[in-house]
Amino acid sequence: MKTQIDITKLPQHIAIIMDGNGRWAKQKGKLRVFGHESGAGTLRNIIQATAELGIPYLTLYAFSTENWNRPKAEVNALMSLLFRGLQKEIKMLHQNNIRLNAIGDMDSLPTNVQKELQKSIELTQHNTRCTITLALAYGSRQELIQAVKKIASDVKNNIISLDDIDELRINQELYTRKMPNVDLLIRTSGEHRISNFLLWQIAYAELYFTKVLWPDFTPEHLYQAIINFQQRERRFGKTSEQLSK
Ligand code: FPP
Repeated sequence: MKTQIDITKLPQHIAIIMDGNGRWAKQKGKLRVFGHESGAGTLRNIIQATAELGIPYLTLYAFSTENWNRPKAEVNALMSLLFRGLQKEIKMLHQNNIRLNAIGDMDSLPTNVQKELQKSIELTQHNTRCTITLALAYGSRQELIQAVKKIASDVKNNIISLDDIDELRINQELYTRKMPNVDLLIRTSGEHRISNFLLWQIAYAELYFTKVLWPDFTPEHLYQAIINFQQRERRFGKTSEQLSK
């Protein structure tokens, strides 16, 4: 499958909504946490596969602002998994020249997770092979609200004028300011929703939905999604004729 990928036409930014851990565990008669643990293993494999392919940006929806509403035990288990995962995997990321990044409301995370994240981000900040971004306590509407507030305050304080507000300005106020737009958005587990993820950034992204539950998602499934992406014609609002000129 991997050999069918055209490496000259790789998506530059893939975003993934990792869904289905709970259902996967339930199918096996186990607790939801077991699904998350297995999902963490999938995450590791997909990060490695992405780096090996040469895709520069991979952004993963690991924890949404809405996920705080889950039972406390599950939230705690996810935070503990994240903490342990960072401790365990950061060396592997660094050795592979992979940069770790995070977006979202970091202040709302437990202090130990914040510290571990900060340490990992600093350690890998000069790595160049690819950037892995974990969306944690992330919500796209919240991201847009803080951008609007910042821009409004800049106008009010005469730092910029109303006419300075354009796409570039809005991009600059988002967590993703240094990243290209998303080319390919993948969601696992058969749900056809965006769930408040990167609403601005996916304006022209190709959407790919698969029924595979996240713990069962393998690099082969990722290659399939990329091949599918490469078979589509991205017109960005233009006609096919205009594109072939
Ligand atoms: C969605 O499955 C998955 C999550 C809410 C968490 C994603 C976490 C991991 C992949 C493990 C690594 C952990 C971190 C925090 C990096 P779901 O629980 O919504 O599944 P369901 O829809 O079947 O209930």
